[in-house]
Amino acid sequence: MATNRTFTMIKPDAVENGHIGAILEKITAAGFRIVAMKYTQLSRRDAELFYEIHKERPFFDELVTFMSRGPIVAAILEKDNAVEDFRTLIGATNPAEAAEGTIRKLFATSIGENAVHGSDSDENAAIEGAFHFSGREIF
Ligand code: CMP
Repeated sequence: MATNRTFTMIKPDAVENGHIGAILEKITAAGFRIVAMKYTQLSRRDAELFYEIHKERPFFDELVTFMSRGPIVAAILEKDNAVEDFRTLIGATNPAEAAEGTIRKLFATSIGENAVHGSDSDENAAIEGAFHFSGREIF
C-alpha cells in the first residue's frame, strides 16, 4: 500500500553548483511538505551503509566517493503517493533520459552525479528516513 512519505537527498554536485534553493522550490511547488531536513555530510562509511544495496555494482566505489565528497541536504517529504510522484518529479536516473522539466533534466550532469536521490519504494523510504533522522527531528 502506498504511504505518503518519501526520502530525498540533494547530492554534493547540486550543492556545489548552488542549486539547493532552486531544487527545494521545485519540490515545494510540486506539493511536497518538508517534514524533516538537515544540511550534513556523509562519511565514506555512512555512504557505504546507505548504498549497501548497490555494493556489488561496478560503480559502487565511485558512488561512495561522490556521495561523501561534500555536503548534502537530506529530507523527508510528505504528499499523497509520495514515492511515485517524487520519482516523476526528479526524472530518470540518467539525466540524458530524464523528461523535460524534471529536476535531473534541469540540474544533473551525469548518471553518477545526478543531483538528487529519491526512494524507490515505501519500505526504502522508511529505512532511508530513519538512517538520517530520529523521531524528534520529524515534524
Ligand atoms: P540514486 O537514485 O541515488 O541511487 C543509486 C545511485 O547510483 C544513483 O542515484 C546514481 O547516483 C548512481 N548510479 C546509478 N547507475 C550508475 C552508473 N551506471 N554509474 C555511476 N553511478 C551510477
